[in-house]
Amino acid sequence: MAEGAIYKSGWSLDDIDWSRFDASKIEPSLLAAVKAASLVEYNAHDYVAYLTRVYDGAPAQQIADIERWGREEIQHGLALGRWAEMADASFKFESAFARFREGYRPAHFISGEGSVRGSRRGEMIARCVVESGTSSIYSAIRDYTNEPVLKEIAGRIAADEFRHYRLFYEMLERDPEPDLPLWRKLWVAVTRVNEAEDDELSYAYYCANVLPENVASTPYKRAQYARAYHAKAMSLYRRHHIDKLVKMVAKPAGLDPSGKISALASASLWRLLSFRAGLRQAV
Ligand SMILES: [Fe+2]
Ligand SMILES: [Fe+2]
Repeated sequence: MAEGAIYKSGWSLDDIDWSRFDASKIEPSLLAAVKAASLVEYNAHDYVAYLTRVYDGAPAQQIADIERWGREEIQHGLALGRWAEMADASFKFESAFARFREGYRPAHFISGEGSVRGSRRGEMIARCVVESGTSSIYSAIRDYTNEPVLKEIAGRIAADEFRHYRLFYEMLERDPEPDLPLWRKLWVAVTRVNEAEDDELSYAYYCANVLPENVASTPYKRAQYARAYHAKAMSLYRRHHIDKLVKMVAKPAGLDPSGKISALASASLWRLLSFRAGLRQAV
């Protein structure tokens, strides 16, 4: 697929040009992060069940949109998992996923009604934060990797994630509930950003990268595997990815995406990432 290709929605695994796979262009640390991402994406079944509970009684089109969103996330997992299996013969996507699913079940997936964010509007703000994060990280992977198949997959996924953001932002805008106060919107956005550091990605990283036969000798340490994933993910970003990410998060949080607070947040986040990555580029 040509550089800068525009990917439409509704693609399938057969649309990916797998024949272009180039094993010499695999970077082990990026492969490790992609394996972890494949498990998290594939776990969308539980998110769909949770969101349809939150939207119980909503118009059929909204439920259909949520289900389509879930199918696309599952496909992201399948595409990344298949690529990771091509890149590393020891990686078994389905069995790694089974271990991940066994050990990662947040309480709100299992039981409960309504949104853990307190309202549908809160839920949509949180979803917009997540889709901002995924669209930016897959854009960063697309721009970073030289492996042609991963570049194509990341490009296709990034385009889907932008569309997901738009879908949830429109659901937020259309919601008949009264608008939330600014402090509440900011609270939801900030707490959801912080949850990106939670158990989900670190445990996925562990299940994807520690072979079953080594589990007994290599116990799970949340902080260690969270650091491993985030160190790689953060090193992929370039300044324009961060600027876009902050603007996307600012909008549903009730801030002006082109305003001073957003610009300041963008510059501060970039400085932090550069520092962490040891790059120390000028801001
Ligand atoms: Fe996704
Ligand atoms: Fe998404």
